[in-house]
Amino acid sequence: MSKPATRTASKRKAVANRAGAGTRTAAGKPLIDVAALRASARKSIDQGAITPSYSADRKEVVRLLNEALATEWVCVLRYLRHYHMASGMLGDAVRAEFLEHAQQEQAHAHQIAERIVQLGGEPDLDPDTLTRRAHAEYKVGKDLRDMVKEDLVAERIAIDSYRGMINYIGDRDTTTKRILEGILAQEEEHADEFADLLNGWIGK
Ligand SMILES: [Fe+2]
Ligand SMILES: [Fe+2]
Repeated sequence: MSKPATRTASKRKAVANRAGAGTRTAAGKPLIDVAALRASARKSIDQGAITPSYSADRKEVVRLLNEALATEWVCVLRYLRHYHMASGMLGDAVRAEFLEHAQQEQAHAHQIAERIVQLGGEPDLDPDTLTRRAHAEYKVGKDLRDMVKEDLVAERIAIDSYRGMINYIGDRDTTTKRILEGILAQEEEHADEFADLLNGWIGK
């Protein structure tokens, strides 16, 4: 004997509902409403990775990321200048450090520019306004020790500016937050290396 049509339909519905049948809210509703999720994903597909659940102020996040991008590029340029100008007894050892930092700051700049584009913004790489938009300064330094000191200052500026951005973004944009946290950890390493170098400095 074949099964009644209504029983088969309700069984099908139960299987379809199973996808969102896990954790529930305090009100007993499914945490993830699969039907609503699927419908909303089809709307505004031109927004790419930006979905309705994005709760941060996207324009403000892009503006902050552009300031970070300018800061990173000023740091790349300052480290490259220091790399080319490093001389003296410690010159060779320290210039290798300058070059490595320049490359790492450039990698940070790429990460930030990519995130700006994902958020629907445009990376501002206009060299005319770079130093005005950056948080860190372009200081050439008068000798090797002074270069290291200026780099330490710039790293400390970057640390505080990234921490401020992370605190502002919070959990409203966890991807941007995670990217900035990764960069912050590396800026702290840079600052620590230079602080050690200055502490053990021999000579002028
Ligand atoms: Fe950086
Ligand atoms: Fe750095």
